[in-house]
Amino acid sequence: MDASDVLSLCKRRGFLYPSYEIYGGVAGMYDYGPLGTAMRNNIVEIWRRLYTLGEGFVEIDSETVGPEIVFKASGHVDEFADKMVKCRSCEEAHRADHLVKELHPNPSILKDKELDDLIRTRGVTCPACGGELSTVEEFNLMFKTVIGPGSGRVGYLRPETAQGIFVNFPNLYRFNREKLPLGVIQVGRGYRNEISPRQGVIRMREFNMMEAELFVDPEDKGWPRFNDVKDEKLKLFANDGREMELTVGEAVEQGVICNQVLAYFMWFTQEFLKSIGVDGERLRFRQHERDEMAHYAADCWDAEALLSFGWTEIVGIADRGCWDLSRHIKFSGVDMTAFKRFDTPHEVERDAIKPKYGLLGPKYKALGAKIGKALEATDPALMENNAVTVEVDGEKHVIGKEMFDIVRVKEKVSGVKVIPHVIEPSHGLDRITYTCLEHAYAQKGDMEMLRLSAAIAPIKFGVFPLMARDDLDKVAMQIDEDIRYSGIETFYDDSGSIGRRYARMDEIGTPYCITVDYQTIEDGTVTLRERDSQSQVRVNVKDLPLVTRAVLCGANIDQFVVADGSE
Ligand code: ATP
Ligand code: GLY
Repeated sequence: MDASDVLSLCKRRGFLYPSYEIYGGVAGMYDYGPLGTAMRNNIVEIWRRLYTLGEGFVEIDSETVGPEIVFKASGHVDEFADKMVKCRSCEEAHRADHLVKELHPNPSILKDKELDDLIRTRGVTCPACGGELSTVEEFNLMFKTVIGPGSGRVGYLRPETAQGIFVNFPNLYRFNREKLPLGVIQVGRGYRNEISPRQGVIRMREFNMMEAELFVDPEDKGWPRFNDVKDEKLKLFANDGREMELTVGEAVEQGVICNQVLAYFMWFTQEFLKSIGVDGERLRFRQHERDEMAHYAADCWDAEALLSFGWTEIVGIADRGCWDLSRHIKFSGVDMTAFKRFDTPHEVERDAIKPKYGLLGPKYKALGAKIGKALEATDPALMENNAVTVEVDGEKHVIGKEMFDIVRVKEKVSGVKVIPHVIEPSHGLDRITYTCLEHAYAQKGDMEMLRLSAAIAPIKFGVFPLMARDDLDKVAMQIDEDIRYSGIETFYDDSGSIGRRYARMDEIGTPYCITVDYQTIEDGTVTLRERDSQSQVRVNVKDLPLVTRAVLCGANIDQFVVADGSE
């Protein structure tokens, strides 16, 4: 099996279509078909519920286009670049680090010159035509646009949903009654002008993200639920080269993972991925090397899945420290701090400005008292060239040092302003969706099937009449309608042999099928068939409301067997 098998099934059965196919398609762009959309929505819903209902996060939905200053502040305009080489013959562009994947254990840490040297000394040429490659250059991945008509304002499509959360921090902090921790999620599109997208939905130019930003007190990296999971295991591939399986508790104790919050959310990510069908045996966490980390990250672990393309990042879990909020404070001038209240007020000493009212009055007349008040409220650290600038009644005044003293004062303070730190699990929804498909893909002789977890399968029950006559179809249609009206997705099919119908459902990952036959008319039972074991049992039609829900929650179908078809 390779990715082309999975992708061709996905196209044939309505999971994924190459975008704009009638015009030849565009690299790195895919559309989700009816089944792909339904499956992806199921994944989003499970993720959303885990974070909101399970962990108390709130959800927002922010703009996908932002003015330049937002992405200047976030660092993306200046720093968000990949290394590119171009073919001197056919002019095709390539990710330089991807071309030397086989020649270096982690090419993403190499500097331009090191990449150049490796390409030259190892004779790497253009994979498309064998031509000679240019020297390495940085290519910024941001999609630029113009906001408004005429010359408008420069804007960018967001490369991550996270910035929409950061710029809203003051609103969200107020919403959270000015308390930390504060967890916020967002699901939406991200845009990156990838140099050479390939590998299906693994690398797209417009992709779907599910991001969680957890704002915490910078001094408190503990997590209330850490103890509940400290004995759970994680497969870790640390940036010192060690590959190990440690419990969550051991990983933090040994300093492999830098704090409890990060470790907790790595475990949380692992459980989410396993719950939607990612194979735990093909899942690990790899720590970024220092030189590989994004410009904002203090530590970062990728959840990687083993796919036919090799180990592939599907979720990045980063400790972003105070990078984003500090930058937005600097660029916007807005106070984006949180107030950390002490249990009991602390007495602190600090430098303060003590105005010389006796000099201010004669010099500034009626304004003297107001200037004095403004001076008292000014931080002496802002003094420049022996003067501070204060604003009174909309006018700025530069007040020389002769007009005030700097004195040490003691005062009681009830708390302190802090810039929260951010822990971010950032999920690539398309990569996760594809991983679920590839890990579920199986071949049985010349048949293909998807062993999708029931939780994400786009159709949960196939409903068939053995024959489309003798009232069997009427009964089956009624069953189908009842299940659908109870909120469970079904597919009614009365064409072809039962074997063919089962096979069609197996191919799209439907976990259960219900068949109405002549016995149904006699004793009110139907056949319930389970995809993975292929076992079949007879169950009462009148029990179906309970049975359909129970099996989707993991109940064994044998529990519902009706031995002789009677009640
Ligand atoms: P890569 O190193 O593979 O380019 P990245 O480190 O740039 O990925 P992040 O910036 O951490 O990725 O983005 C968060 C998540 O978004 C990733 O874990 C991945 O699942 C997803 N992602 C990133 N870029 C793309 C893309 N071009 N197409 C699809 N998904 C993507
Ligand atoms: N928000 C994580 C990233 O896009 O890098």
